[in-house]
Amino acid sequence: MIVDAVQPDTPIVFVNPSFEKMTGYALQEVLGRNCRFLQGEDRDQPGRAVIRAALRDGAACECVLRNYRKSGAMFWNKLYFFPIRRAGGDISHFVGVQHDVTLERELLADLERTASERARLIGELELQRRQLEQLSRDLLTVQENERKALARELHDELGQRMTVLNLLLHRTLPHLEAEEGRALWTKAEQELGGLIELVRGMSASLRPPGLDFFGLEPTIRQLLARQFEGGPAWIFEYAGLPQRLAPAVEIGVFRIVQESVTNIVRHADARHVVVEINGGADGSELELVVRDDGAGFDAANWRERAARAGRTGLAGMGERIQLLGGQFQVDSTPGQGTRIAATLRLQPAPPGQHG
Ligand SMILES: Nc1ncnc2c1ncn2[C@@H]1O[C@H](COP(=O)(O)OP(=O)(O)O)[C@@H](O)[C@H]1O
Ligand SMILES: [Mg+2]
Repeated sequence: MIVDAVQPDTPIVFVNPSFEKMTGYALQEVLGRNCRFLQGEDRDQPGRAVIRAALRDGAACECVLRNYRKSGAMFWNKLYFFPIRRAGGDISHFVGVQHDVTLERELLADLERTASERARLIGELELQRRQLEQLSRDLLTVQENERKALARELHDELGQRMTVLNLLLHRTLPHLEAEEGRALWTKAEQELGGLIELVRGMSASLRPPGLDFFGLEPTIRQLLARQFEGGPAWIFEYAGLPQRLAPAVEIGVFRIVQESVTNIVRHADARHVVVEINGGADGSELELVVRDDGAGFDAANWRERAARAGRTGLAGMGERIQLLGGQFQVDSTPGQGTRIAATLRLQPAPPGQHG
C-alpha cells in the first residue's frame, strides 16, 4: 500500500493484488481513502499512536493492528510503515507493507492457553499427590496406633488372664487323684504355656513393646534374636546415629527390618544375615541395609511383579520409605541372596516425642 504524504489526510494511491486478497477490497474501492477505514469502529488500539507518531516525525514504524476485511471479519495486520523522500529530502509518500498474522496470533494464543491449562493441571495433580501422601501418612499413624492398642490388649488383658488361669491350674494339681486326670492336667498345662507364648509373640510383633521405651537398636536386636533363634547366623551393626530418632522414622525403619526378616525366614533359607543401620557420611542420613545369602529371586521389575502377584511386603516397605522422603532399593539374584537398602534424610528430632 502506498499513501500520499502531501495531500490532506494521507490518501491511498496504490494497493497491490495481495492487499486486495487480504482485505477483500479492490483497488478502485480504496483509492483516495485514508487507510484507517480498515479499523472499522475498533479505534481504541495502541498501534494507532505508533502510526501517528511515525507520520508526524517522518519515521518508520512497526505495529500490529486489528483490521476488518470487507466481509467484516477481523484479522491481525502486522504493519511495517516507512517514508519515501524526494531528492530534496521532503517526504512524498509512505509505503505500508502488511502481513496477515491472524493464524500466527491464534496459534500463539492457543499455545499460551494450552500451556497455562497444563500448568494448572500439573498444579492440581501436585496438590492431589500431596494430599494423598498426607492421607497415607495419616493412615500409617492410625494403623500404628491401632496396633499399639491391640498389642497392649493382647499382652495386658489376654496375657494376664491366661497367666491367672495357669496359676489356677497349678493349684488344682494336688487335688488330682487319678493317673488319667494328671496326664490330662499336664497336657492342659502345656497347651496353656504354648498359648501364653503365642500371645506374647503376637503382641510383640504387632507393636514391639521396647520401641517406645528404648528405641531402635535394642528393639531390632531383640527381633533378630527372636526370629533367627534357630539360625541363620546374624550380625547387627548400629553406628553413627543418636539413641533416639523421630518416632515416624523409628517405627518405619523397624517395620522394614521386620518385613525383611519375615521374608528371610519365609523365602530365603539363608545361612547368614547382616543388618546395618548407620548415620551416613555425617550423621545427617540414615542408611539401612538388610542382606542375606539365601535363595534370592529375580528382582528385575519387582514392583510390577509384586503388584501382579498381589504381594505387598516389599511394596509396602518402599511406600513407607517414600512417605518418609527417602529412597528404597531391592537387589536380588536367584542363588545369590537379597539386599534391601533404604536411605533417609534425618531431621533433628525435638525432645519429648516418645512414649
Ligand atoms: N530375602 C528374600 N529371599 C528370597 N526371596 C525373597 C526375599 N524377599 C522377598 N523375596 C521374594 O519376593 C517376593 C515378594 O516379597 P513380599 O513382597 O514381601 O511378598 P510375600 O512375602 O508376601 O511373598 C516373595 O514372594 C519372594 O519370592
Ligand atoms: Mg513378605
